[in-house]
Amino acid sequence: MTLLSMSSVQRYYSTPAGDVKALDGINIEIEQGERVVLLGPSGSGKTTLLNCLSALDSPTNGTYIFDGEAVPRNDSEAMTRFRRENIGYVFQFFNLLQDLTVMENILLIQELAGQKDPKRAKALLDLVGLSAEANRFPGEISGGQQQRVAIARSIAKRPRLLLGDELTGNLDSETSDMVMKALVHACEQENITAVFVTHDEGLVKFATRVIRIDSGQIVSDEQQTPATVE
Ligand SMILES: Nc1ncnc2c1ncn2[C@@H]1O[C@H](COP(=O)(O)OP(=O)(O)O)[C@@H](O)[C@H]1O
Ligand SMILES: [Mg+2]
Repeated sequence: MTLLSMSSVQRYYSTPAGDVKALDGINIEIEQGERVVLLGPSGSGKTTLLNCLSALDSPTNGTYIFDGEAVPRNDSEAMTRFRRENIGYVFQFFNLLQDLTVMENILLIQELAGQKDPKRAKALLDLVGLSAEANRFPGEISGGQQQRVAIARSIAKRPRLLLGDELTGNLDSETSDMVMKALVHACEQENITAVFVTHDEGLVKFATRVIRIDSGQIVSDEQQTPATVE
């Protein structure tokens, strides 16, 4: 099933020096369950594309259909609702609340989404391999473990689409691998479609599809068999 499609999407920024074409004719169709890695040099439009996918930002031109419906644009309330209902996000700097335990961080997110469910919170921590750390504070676990908590938190509300921008940008390569394995496992178990932006070629092996962009345009788009994660 097709989860989303963009066609001829442009995102121009007006600057005193003229228009910046951050996205310049993006055509993309993503099926449910795909795990896409989005690669490209700095300034190529990766973050802009994620922001348009999540309706944090509105394209200047083009169409964007999600689950059969036009995604709201230039309407912050409707865009917020769209994000709340459909989008999960993993940040580069974990953004966990330091005064809450690992478990409480998950419970808080569920509460905000109006679906407190301690049993599922525990299952999510199991899923990312952190059951033993449930009662520790973020300051008492490693960066990789904190990012795994952030992943558990990001999927707590069962998003249709999970997005990450340089989510391992703050971790060494061995830790990145562990985090990505937890992420792949979680996406597979929960049947979550994901798009991850990175400039780290080391993450390519975890994707089912690799899209490269440059100067706001897709320059290659290939399916592949991902590395197996036990
Ligand atoms: N708010 C903005 N105003 C003007 N130009 C912007 C703005 N945000 C991004 N850009 C420009 O759009 C292009 C794409 O940026 P971005 O999507 O952040 O790239 P990436 O994430 O691949 O590094 C760059 O040339 C950047 O300078
Ligand atoms: Mg960026």
